[in-house]
Amino acid sequence: MMNNWFNTARLGMFVHWGHSSQQECELSWPLVGGVFSLPFCQDIPVEKYHSTADNFNPQQYNPQEWAYLAKSLGMKYAILTAKHHDGFALFHTQESDFSIASTPYKKDIVREFIDAMRSEGLRIGLYFSLSDWHHPDYPAFTEADKPYRFDKLPQPTPQQWERYLQFLCNQIRELLSNYGQIDIIWFDGSWERTLEQWQVQELAKIIRELQPNILINDRLPNCGDFATPEQFIPSHPPAHLWETCLTINESWGYNSDDHCFKSSRQLIHTLCEVAGKGGNLLLNVSPMGNGQIPPEQLERLKDIADWMSQHSESILDTMPGLEPWQFYGPSTRKGNRLYLHLLMQPYETISVRGIPIKQVKSVSVLADGTPLNFTSRCAIMDSLLNPNPLGELTIDVPESLINPYVTVIYIDIE
Ligand code: GLC
Repeated sequence: MMNNWFNTARLGMFVHWGHSSQQECELSWPLVGGVFSLPFCQDIPVEKYHSTADNFNPQQYNPQEWAYLAKSLGMKYAILTAKHHDGFALFHTQESDFSIASTPYKKDIVREFIDAMRSEGLRIGLYFSLSDWHHPDYPAFTEADKPYRFDKLPQPTPQQWERYLQFLCNQIRELLSNYGQIDIIWFDGSWERTLEQWQVQELAKIIRELQPNILINDRLPNCGDFATPEQFIPSHPPAHLWETCLTINESWGYNSDDHCFKSSRQLIHTLCEVAGKGGNLLLNVSPMGNGQIPPEQLERLKDIADWMSQHSESILDTMPGLEPWQFYGPSTRKGNRLYLHLLMQPYETISVRGIPIKQVKSVSVLADGTPLNFTSRCAIMDSLLNPNPLGELTIDVPESLINPYVTVIYIDIE
């Protein structure tokens, strides 16, 4: 696959943002009354939810700062909700008035985001919801349709559906024609209609014509270039490209009712796990209505950035390292260097099994290069007769070298 940048990107920024962030509630889902997977999601009357679309005016929106932040974590790409299920476009669209163009802010948020991220060398992704709970032809979700049920949703007439598909396709064309190279289109919301209704193959064809190098996620069913496990790490690494998307608390959009934040350590552990399995972590941020990233999120992102400033080498552009039986923890590799991530504190030593012990040149702590003592052993006859035996390496890890988040040790092999 030619898009191999994604294969080893390892870390990206997801941004869930919309006019409703002014109401300090989850994105889109409150208007349908919440959903089982979002424990802190509010239930807000449909009209009230949409009412803040007219006055969106995020004066503190500074995408350049977001780009510096993303860069400081070593993030390789950034994905913004150009349009979420609530149907509000953060970009200028000829297709409807329901967009940022009709607000006091006026400026094209998607364009500003793309320009800033690109200026820091990040790849660009756009989240686009196939479902649209505001468009009359979708048709829009109304108060009478509550409670939301996956198997009982308002359905369009054939004429409505034809018009909606045209609208959808035109908006996708806008996004993929007006902003230069787009590296990822991240669909969502397909569950509300059938494959036939979405005409997925036709849609994918148009997308690939407009952006030949684009990656499409697997939420455009049957057309995906990569899998998108949501809020979890697959227990076995999927065979193909994949990306775990993860929130810092339990909500995607800025939700002041949700104080359930993961610790910086948990987030860094997740990043190591994902890298060890050869996936990418798309870490979500939830800007507030004024455009600022909430302090609890910033704090954690800064901790990750600090850790990455000494350890990004073991995460970014790496391949999965050892098999799980070889080392109790995630490991990665780059060329002849093997990186061990210590997610648990060792008792004096750690062991690595099934490696060519005679070829081990050195073992060191990644943070500061401190060399570590090690010994090795293997089957006795192997040590006599085999010039290059596989065996076990035992590495001394003094307590003083333990990092409060994750200690990384690397082994250089000849
Ligand atoms: C979900 C939700 C949504 C969120 C997305 C991110 O499917 O509908 O709110 O944007 O997951 O993965």
